[in-house]
Parts: sequence; structure tokens; C-alpha cells
Amino acid sequence: MQRNILITGGAGFIGSHVVRLFVRRYPEYRIINLDALTYAGNLENLADIEHASNYTFSKTNILDQEALTSVFKKFSVTDVIHLAAESHVDRSIVSPLDFVYTNVIGTVNLLNTAREQWKGEYNQHRFYHISTDEVYGSLGEKGFFTETTPYDPNSPYSASKAASDHFVRAYGETYHMQTVVSNCSNNYGPNHFPEKLIPLFINNIIEEKPLPVYGDGLYTRDWLYVKDHATAIDTVFHKGVPGETYNIGGFNEWKNIDLVKLLCKLMDQKLGRAEGYSEKLITYVKDRPGHDRRYAIDASKISNELGWKPSVTFEQGLSETIDWYLSNTAWLKNVTSGTYQHYYESMYSNR
Ligand code: NAD
Ligand code: DAU
Repeated sequence: MQRNILITGGAGFIGSHVVRLFVRRYPEYRIINLDALTYAGNLENLADIEHASNYTFSKTNILDQEALTSVFKKFSVTDVIHLAAESHVDRSIVSPLDFVYTNVIGTVNLLNTAREQWKGEYNQHRFYHISTDEVYGSLGEKGFFTETTPYDPNSPYSASKAASDHFVRAYGETYHMQTVVSNCSNNYGPNHFPEKLIPLFINNIIEEKPLPVYGDGLYTRDWLYVKDHATAIDTVFHKGVPGETYNIGGFNEWKNIDLVKLLCKLMDQKLGRAEGYSEKLITYVKDRPGHDRRYAIDASKISNELGWKPSVTFEQGLSETIDWYLSNTAWLKNVTSGTYQHYYESMYSNR
């Protein structure tokens, strides 16, 4: 059967890497990138593949059920890889409802459309939801999130992702759709919007602006290179068992302050600045409300059952990421102008 794969959120950070991987690796598939192009969606991310013969873009909002139905019909969509979401925790604290609309209602709209269009032949189609480790809440000093860790979300963002995971699972159980979910740790890499820690700090180091570290800086995140997440998504899409969940991560935990210091050191070297120059930009600011202390993924299921492993070390990935930002200053300038600038000022002015 010809596969016409709908990838939602394909103009965003992770989605653009997934779209590129699928377009290049599977010339026999047709890839339909569906994205509303919010502040986080940027077609510049895909300029290198936009003319590929197996690639199509559709500017569509997942909240628009009618438009979703016509996309499914027009392209005879056979499978869905769903990444479209509001993804930034800080924004969810300011505007929780935006997260309910896109992440919960948008996901249910997409499920309903797939259910209607694939009726009677669910075994031939796959609905894959890309989720986050944040649904599991916060860890203490020890231990890992496994696929059986109970959901315990603490932010409006993670609560909305938890709700959407539950709906995906429920559609699998109730309607026998072939659903699969993966929950990944923090991604980093090229095309990451500079509201998140690593790209924000890279941009601020370049511009010699303060580096706003939340709270005591001892919060821990588990970092994975975005291109490795894309290969994990490829693996789960093709080999994952319907109804199952897979955790994705690189066993790569860093306390925020240690990561920021490493970033400062690498950037000073690359920018020809004196050692210790950028560390002076570190500024401790008011903590994020409901800030999860530690995330750490146990990725042994995807490794043992599906044979996936990350391909780069953190030092390699971080170095490549910095190089990408240093040689894509036009991209950075475009996304840090206008609306983003206004958002940044309102987020950080009173800290
Ligand atoms: P992102 O914010 O960079 O991109 C989100 C994309 O979704 C954008 O292109 C945006 O235009 C699109 N979008 C938003 N609302 C939409 C709507 N209503 N209709 C259609 N398109 C819409 O996000 P990201 O960091 O690439 O994350 C992608 C997915 O992966 C999300 O579901 C997120 O929860 C999940 N995830 C992210 C991380 C991470 O570290 N970034 C880790 C684990 C899981
Ligand atoms: O764990 C996966 C999640 O990772 C994804 O589901 C989310 O979409 C993604 O945004 C990311 O969430 P985090 O909240 O962990 O990422 P963020 O880059 O916002 O923050 C990383 C850590 O750095 C966190 O402990 C908060 C801290 N931080 C962040 C910013 C933006 C700061 O100290 N200062 C900052 O300015």
C-alpha cells in the first residue's frame, strides 16, 4: 500500500527534523507536513527539502475539523505522526487555555478525523503521538521514568500532554485504532526556537545579554540530540507495537548550571573570547512556578525491543548545535524579531 504520512507540526523544531528524515530516507512515501505556522512554526527550517517531489505542505490548524477532513481526503492520508503542539512550559503558565485547545482538543480532532476516514480498516493505519517525559512529573535524586511510571503532570503544558496521551490510548482501546505513543526527554539541536534554555542562552551569549538561570540552577534535565529523536521516531513508527508506549532518551543528565557553564566555555572558545568571559553573564532569577526538579528517562525498552540507540555524544551534539547557530545568524535574527521580542521582554522584565 502507498503510504501517505501526515506529519503535524512539521514546521517546528523537532517536526522539521522528522519531516526531513522521512522525505530523504523514504522517497516511496508521500509526506504531508500539516502546520498552522504559529510563532514556533517556520518554513525556513525546511528550505532544503521544500521542492522534493514526495513532500507537500498544508497550512492547517488542527483545531479546524473540516480542514483536517479535507486534507485527509485530498491526500488519502494513511498514517499520522502527530507533533503539533504548544510546547513551552513558561507560556503554559501564562496562557493555559491555549494548551488545552491545541494539545487536547486539537489531538482529539485529529483522532476523530482519522477514526472517521479510516473506518473499517484500522489495521492498515497507524496513529503515532509524540509526547514528553514531563507527563511523569518530577523525580527525586535517584531513579528513572519508565513506561509504567504513573502520570503526575505539574505544569499546564504537561497536564495537556498527559490528557492527549490518554485520549490517544483510549482511542486505541475503544475503537481499535492502531495507536502508539512515545515520551521523550529534552531535545536540543539546530532550529530550536530561542525561548528554550539552550538556544536562548546561545543567543544571549552571542549578544552578551544576561543568562537568566531559574531558582538555584540545580534542576536536572536529560538531553537528547534532535536528530537522534528523529531516528527514534522513525524506529517507533515502523517497528513499535500498537497500543505500546516507548520512552526515548539518551541517559544524559545535566544540572542546568553545569550545562550553562559548559555552554559558556564552548562558546568562549568558538567566539575567541577569554576563558570565563560568558560565565559572567549568568544571572540567577525568580524560579519557574511548579518547576520540576529532575527528569531522567530509562530508554532500555526502545533499545532492547526495537534496537534504537542515540548516535552522538552530548559534547558532539552541543558543539554541532552551537556551530549551527553561529553560521545561521539570519535564521536567529528572523525568529528573534517582532512578536518574539515582545514576548521575551514581557517574560523577563519583572524577574
Ligand atoms: P515547537 O513548538 O517547536 O513546534 C510546534 C509546531 O506545532 C510548530 O510548527 C507550530 O506552528 C505547530 N502548531 C502549534 N499549534 C498548532 C495547531 N493548532 N495546528 C497546527 N499546527 C500547530 O515544538 P517542538 O519542540 O518541536 O515539539 C514538537 C512535539 O514534541 C510537541 O508535541 C512536544 O510536546 C513534543 N516534545 C518536545 C520535546 C522538546 O524537548 N522540545 C521533548 C519531548 C516531546
Ligand atoms: O522534557 C521534555 C520537555 O523539554 C518538552 O516536553 C518541552 O516541550 C520542552 O520545552 C522542554 O521543557 P523544559 O521546561 O524542560 O525546557 P526549557 O528549555 O524551557 O527549560 C530547561 C530547564 O532550564 C528547566 O529546568 C528550566 C530552566 N530554564 C529555562 C529557561 C527558558 C532556566 O533556568 N532559564 C530559562 O530562561
